[in-house]
Amino acid sequence: MTEKNAAAYYDVHWQEEGYYYPPPDFVGQANCTDPSIYQRFSLENFPECFREFADLLHWDQYWHTILDTSDAPCWKWFVGGRLNASYNCLDRHLDAYKNKTAIHFVPELEEEPILHITYQELYRRVNETAALLRDFAGLKAGDRVTLHLPMTPELPITMLACARLGVIHSEVFAGFSGKACGDRIQDSGSEVLITMDGYYRSGKMLDHKEKADEAVEAAARQGQEVKKVLIWRRYPGRYSSPTPLVEGRDFCMDEQLPAYRGRIIAPVSLPAEDILFLMYTSGSTGSPKGCQHSIGGYLSYVSWMSKYVQDIHPEDVYWCMADIGWITGHSFIVYGPLALAASTVVYEGVPTYPDPGRPWRVAEELDVNIFHTSPTAIRGLRKAGGDEPKKYNFKFKHMTTVGEPIEPEVWRWYYHVVGKAGAVIVDTWWQTETGGFLCSTLPGVNPMKPGSAGPGLPGIHPVILDDEGREIPAGEGRAGNICIKNPWPGAFQTIWKNRERYVKTYYEKYCKDPKSTDWRDWPYLAGDAAVPEEDGYVRILGRIDDVINVAGHRLGTKEIESAALRVEEVAEAAVVSVHDEVKGIIPDLYVSLKPGHDPSEELAGKVSETVSDVLGKIARPGHVYIVDDMPKTRSGKIMRRILASISNYNTVGDVTTLANPHIVEEIRKQVQD
Ligand code: WTA
Repeated sequence: MTEKNAAAYYDVHWQEEGYYYPPPDFVGQANCTDPSIYQRFSLENFPECFREFADLLHWDQYWHTILDTSDAPCWKWFVGGRLNASYNCLDRHLDAYKNKTAIHFVPELEEEPILHITYQELYRRVNETAALLRDFAGLKAGDRVTLHLPMTPELPITMLACARLGVIHSEVFAGFSGKACGDRIQDSGSEVLITMDGYYRSGKMLDHKEKADEAVEAAARQGQEVKKVLIWRRYPGRYSSPTPLVEGRDFCMDEQLPAYRGRIIAPVSLPAEDILFLMYTSGSTGSPKGCQHSIGGYLSYVSWMSKYVQDIHPEDVYWCMADIGWITGHSFIVYGPLALAASTVVYEGVPTYPDPGRPWRVAEELDVNIFHTSPTAIRGLRKAGGDEPKKYNFKFKHMTTVGEPIEPEVWRWYYHVVGKAGAVIVDTWWQTETGGFLCSTLPGVNPMKPGSAGPGLPGIHPVILDDEGREIPAGEGRAGNICIKNPWPGAFQTIWKNRERYVKTYYEKYCKDPKSTDWRDWPYLAGDAAVPEEDGYVRILGRIDDVINVAGHRLGTKEIESAALRVEEVAEAAVVSVHDEVKGIIPDLYVSLKPGHDPSEELAGKVSETVSDVLGKIARPGHVYIVDDMPKTRSGKIMRRILASISNYNTVGDVTTLANPHIVEEIRKQVQD
């Protein structure tokens, strides 16, 4: 059995959980409560059913062809239509909502006041910025521009200013290094970089401008010249970075903007299938892939998902605690909520600054009623302050989890403690490539099941295939490769400048006829392993390459970690493969503890016992290491690769981009010395 066909033979040990029903209060006000919606979006009604998505937008010119498959598998949606994304997020709301908050900006420093930016104010700032980008930076429709911006209002303002002109933005997560930003500048062919002097993380002002210099240099080494670096200042009028400006190349936005005061730029009317943005994502091998998202398809998709899955009404206060530097932030902080005239929260810093009560104080102050975050953040908040939510007077109607499978144990804490047992939860499974959600319950229609993402959303038809392309029957407990049978408007159009890699990575495996222009011949391979359940829900086990093979038994890393989390004292768990002469591979388990608990041999033994009780002896870890903290990326993902290098006595490599690089050496000493 090769690694390639791992998923099909994956043994699943993780028990299915019982249902939780959406609270009647929620259902009473939900945007969708009608179960017949699934019939309306059945495959027989494909692709016409997606007209409903397009109709959430304002079109300058209505489209004539809903789906053009002639260049399969590069799908074109709403062909013939013309629109502007910035118009749809701003101008069209002004009559009804000009005086309503569009963005609540929460600076990390608690003593700095929260800014409430109205739709009118956002409209004005976007227009002036667009005027500057056009007339000062010389940008026009179709040009790419790289943004390396942190979580302040200037990020959505810049994105919408680009969208107004038809300029393709490529935002690089601010936590990424200058070198990573430079690689993306080069790949996208950007001549302009837009960045910020500094921003706050954990109470410290970081020097962010430094990275711009590194990025420009890295891009230049690869042959891409950056002509202008535009710098927003965290405090207008005051430069907060120790890194000097480069004469003739670097310009502070707040010094240039007064020249464009009051300027209104007519939104450029663009074909629906033109590109709105690029978002780079890493694969397991090779360079990052520039996922290319369209204007019409993408915007209609995130609007529909925001309305019916996030259940956003204009009067809601919606807080997605992701970073706009990831797809979640693009779709569900900026484009989806603003297209619906919602009030969206932008929070600058780390959730636990200055203490783990912070998110709940923000929720209390702004009366946030829709909350959206990741299992990593939920585990982190539970670890740092499991009782904190009880101290604050806030009430969510709706909560989202996204980004990785959530352990049922953690789900229950989210439900009972954060949601106070009165909020609905959606576990939304999707990817950078997919633009918006693929699988999730519809919050006013289906019951929730901890650990399961739910069924395909209306219009999304998942199928789970083995390596020969046979469908894995529901309810047998076997896993396979999850695919989507049909195209959908939010799907990326291709990998920027690399159609071949696009076809190979996402479609080649199950396409029987590469010449076909029939969408039925092109199931989309997501690259995740999943189990189809009896009730039509799917349980996502993680990336196909996240499989640990112990003596011929394939175990999901998540299953082992979830078992470890059953131990009361354990806050976080990460499992890695260790090479063993006898068994081939054995799992090593790293755990960190909730506050108030001390590491001991006894506790390590208890974790080991629990894992083998839950999953069988086969999954018993070689070692259980109780560590102070896990090595984490700036977006909070645990770096299992680094732990694996330590367990296998390999070189760890560059750790400087981690959120907590010092922990690596500590763990290495603990394991190896
Ligand atoms: C994983 C993030 C389980 C999955 C939106 C996917 C999930 C990858 C879930 C995409 C979920 C995302 N349950 N796993 N609810 N959501 N994933 O591109 O492995 O950063 O392929 O997009 O995250 O990560 P990306």
